Amino acid sequence: MDRRNFLRNSLLAGSGALLARRSLAANSASSEGQVPSAIATAQTDKARFPSGFVWGMASAAYQVEGAWNVDGKGESNWDRFSHTMGKIKGGATADVACDQYHRYKEDIAILKRLSQKSYRFSTSWARVQPSGTGAVNQKGIDYYSRVVDALLEAGIRPFCTIYHWDLPQALEDRGGWPNRDLASYFADFAGILAKNLGDRITVWAPFNMPWTFTYYGYGVGAFPPGKASFEQFLKAAHTVNLAQGEAFRAIKAASSKATVGSALGMAPAYPKTDSEVDRAATARYHAMNNTYFLNPAMHGEYPKAFVDETPYEAMGYKPGDDKIMKVPLDWLGFHYYTRRVVSQAVGNAVAGNAGHFGTETEGEGGSASRDPLTQIHVEMPTEGSLTEAGLEIWPRGIYDLVTQISREYNHPIIEISENGCCYLDGPDETGRVPDIRRIAFHHEILAELARAIADGAKVRAYHAWSLVDNFEWSDGYTQRYGMTYVDFRSQKRTVKDSGLWYGRVAAANRLDV
Ligand code: FCB
Repeated sequence: MDRRNFLRNSLLAGSGALLARRSLAANSASSEGQVPSAIATAQTDKARFPSGFVWGMASAAYQVEGAWNVDGKGESNWDRFSHTMGKIKGGATADVACDQYHRYKEDIAILKRLSQKSYRFSTSWARVQPSGTGAVNQKGIDYYSRVVDALLEAGIRPFCTIYHWDLPQALEDRGGWPNRDLASYFADFAGILAKNLGDRITVWAPFNMPWTFTYYGYGVGAFPPGKASFEQFLKAAHTVNLAQGEAFRAIKAASSKATVGSALGMAPAYPKTDSEVDRAATARYHAMNNTYFLNPAMHGEYPKAFVDETPYEAMGYKPGDDKIMKVPLDWLGFHYYTRRVVSQAVGNAVAGNAGHFGTETEGEGGSASRDPLTQIHVEMPTEGSLTEAGLEIWPRGIYDLVTQISREYNHPIIEISENGCCYLDGPDETGRVPDIRRIAFHHEILAELARAIADGAKVRAYHAWSLVDNFEWSDGYTQRYGMTYVDFRSQKRTVKDSGLWYGRVAAANRLDV
């Protein structure tokens, strides 16, 4: 353990917010010029957010709802995947998850108690259209309608992510996202939602982290449907870009109040060396991972993600697709969790051994590339401390990312659609959950976000991932990201100390609470 980590851990061994806050100072003493947190504790306490800044929390249908086959819901690709032996840690499923389908009122009451002003939730396509096309399951619509009403009654803005990775299995059986027909099926689904809920929802994001579900699902096979072909990934990603454009129009046609943005997964990327090739590889990473689903919407064209020409043929690109994809978004939403260090790949190009998030490091081949067309080698550095999911904590990254996207897209309105950390803390003997490392994590990152705002970025919202501990995809229940602890046997909820702290931050609109 290096000196900084030792200091941080020693401080965190104590308890209480004061110690958690002091650890900020420990974390800012870094080596090699990259300063994890560029401002000292005294200054983080002075961090200010614009009046009306929107504090919120996020979740996703498959991770929290449960009720996987209730009230006419169809099977989704994640139901199929989690019901297949060997796919999810511990053999877990989300059949029940947090049972939010039946407990949404209790969860919304927690949001209200914690002074939240936005809840980012997602809709299960198979709950609304059990086979992905055609007939609507009214009970599915009614459920989301009840959720929206309960949120509004609690004074909370409903932020609807239409698709957070769970595809009706019937559509997976028809080829899944590489099948171009899914673009118009998705637009139909989006239109149904906007027609039924668009009188009350004003904030829509068509897709959560499109690079992740297309790449992990079709490029490397870590997510359903478990395919591993770079060409399938290229096709899936292109369908999703078309779907984003078509859905944008369908939503706007059905609801005059609608604003449409995004919920992209992004990581600021830093070149491993100052060499020209590493800097070029870093730019390709940014294009492939951060803006591959943004540039087509804003400008109608793909960013330069490939060493050679964009492989239009392999993508299934047709003349006129630029016009379908181009839908200048009303605001840009993206998540920040950690950073990446990127270099030019050497050695054999292999579709690398990537798992979700933290394991996206060297892969098998030492410095092999993810694929032959981008030739990027991606590492997750370990200079900062790691969360219990193995992600490096790098608060400075949110400043770099937000200011970079602001510059590149002409100072758009930005929402941070997710940020969070996995720590496994549970209730102590008094029943409290003193997860002070989570407090320190958000505190540091929010201070850096405030600095980006002070430097001119138009950030209007921040969503903590997540309201409750939940089903963490292929990691099952082995990771906990919630600000509320869930006992998955009894479904008892206990707001963690981080939730209480974040509630005070939301109420005061500042960090020194
Ligand atoms: C994001 C996902 C979310 C959750 C968090 C930890 O990538 O959008 O569903 O898994 O990571």
